[in-house]
Amino acid sequence: MKFRTCLAVLIVNFAVVVYLYRLWPFQNLTEDVYQKLAFSALLVVAILLLWSTLPRPRVDPRGKAVFITGCDSGFGRELAERLDHMGYHVFAGCLAPDREGARDLKKSTSDRLKIVPIDVTDDFQVSQAVRYVKNNLGDNQLWAVVNNAGVAVFCEIEWCSVQEFQKIMDVNVFGIVRVTKAFLPLLRQSEGRVINVASLAGRFTLPAFAAYSMSKKACIAFSDALRQEMNKFNISVVTIEPGLYKTPITHEGYLIDHNKKSWSETPTEVRADYGEEYFDVFLQQVSLSLKQARPNVQEVVDNMVEAVCAQRPIYRYVPYWRFQLRAFIIGSLPTFLSDKLFAARFKMTEPVSRKNRSPKTPPSPLSNWIRLHRSWSKQS
Ligand SMILES: NC(=O)c1ccc[n+]([C@@H]2O[C@H](COP(=O)([O-])OP(=O)(O)OC[C@H]3O[C@@H](n4cnc5c(N)ncnc54)[C@H](OP(=O)(O)O)[C@@H]3O)[C@@H](O)[C@H]2O)c1
Repeated sequence: MKFRTCLAVLIVNFAVVVYLYRLWPFQNLTEDVYQKLAFSALLVVAILLLWSTLPRPRVDPRGKAVFITGCDSGFGRELAERLDHMGYHVFAGCLAPDREGARDLKKSTSDRLKIVPIDVTDDFQVSQAVRYVKNNLGDNQLWAVVNNAGVAVFCEIEWCSVQEFQKIMDVNVFGIVRVTKAFLPLLRQSEGRVINVASLAGRFTLPAFAAYSMSKKACIAFSDALRQEMNKFNISVVTIEPGLYKTPITHEGYLIDHNKKSWSETPTEVRADYGEEYFDVFLQQVSLSLKQARPNVQEVVDNMVEAVCAQRPIYRYVPYWRFQLRAFIIGSLPTFLSDKLFAARFKMTEPVSRKNRSPKTPPSPLSNWIRLHRSWSKQS
């Protein structure tokens, strides 16, 4: 059951209990009319919540084509398959069209689906992809572009090389800019839509997420500007912002090996300051976090399908109600609290160079406030 549906059911129950037992804060409302008003207000909230969970009207897939990047695996591959089965003409952008992923996708789909080779960091390949789509559209219109291709690393800034930061930005940010700009003229004709796969990491940044979060925040900023600028052409712009899911991008073995390689290339003095024990605990924490990745990839793909097919898509999809709730709560917290929350979740040991020092922790906002308060009371 969806989160909003559960909430609506709870509110209805609450309304009934309030009405039957005259609970606080309605016990003083002796007038029957006030009780009925309170009961009706709660019912209206519940109905609105339920209404918001109803499936939205969808567009007709006939004559509509969709271009998706990163269809070799993960969300992109699943989305390509789903849209093909629904009757869309899918252009599945694949980084390695000759590898197993693309071949399997071709086998499991109809003749309508076309594999398009594309590396989103390569201007020439992007322009070739646009040309291929144009030449193979036939009587169809390009309805949507889904910027799904992406890469990730999870390592601390001190052992994440500048080249690694640049690589992530090139795929996750400039790749999206490149592909979107190249396809906009076709989308203007159809008054279609751009769907960018961002991440909740684009809203909140945990330790070890610097490079990835930077890229996803940039993706969200790009989408926000694009949405406003494309409004005049009736082009919708949507972001999909999943939490952690089990796909090749969160493959534990790859991410651990990548960290080990980066660590071995880090200057000796930096490694000496942290110490091997710190790095080992860090790897354990990365493994623990990745084990919590959700296996239900379809939750994300459902939202991607909705973004492509809904007549009026919403601007931002966050799959899975717990991620929605968590995002809402963390977004409302002051930074010092969310930092503490993330530190508690990602428990690290002290670096070796800090272990034998006297602690020099800066005073917390609370102790600062107490000190200020004391000095004021002394003065008065
Ligand atoms: N899984 C999660 O927890 C999660 C959470 C939030 C957001 N996301 C985002 O969701 C999107 C899809 O990721 P996924 O989870 O489905 O992982 P995935 O299976 O690794 O999908 C990423 C795809 O992008 C392709 N790709 C990488 N570099 C490329 C390039 N330069 N040009 C074109 N394609 C390239 C990859 O190809 P190869 O397989 O050949 O490398 C792969 O097919 C990404 O943007 C990711 O950041 C994922």
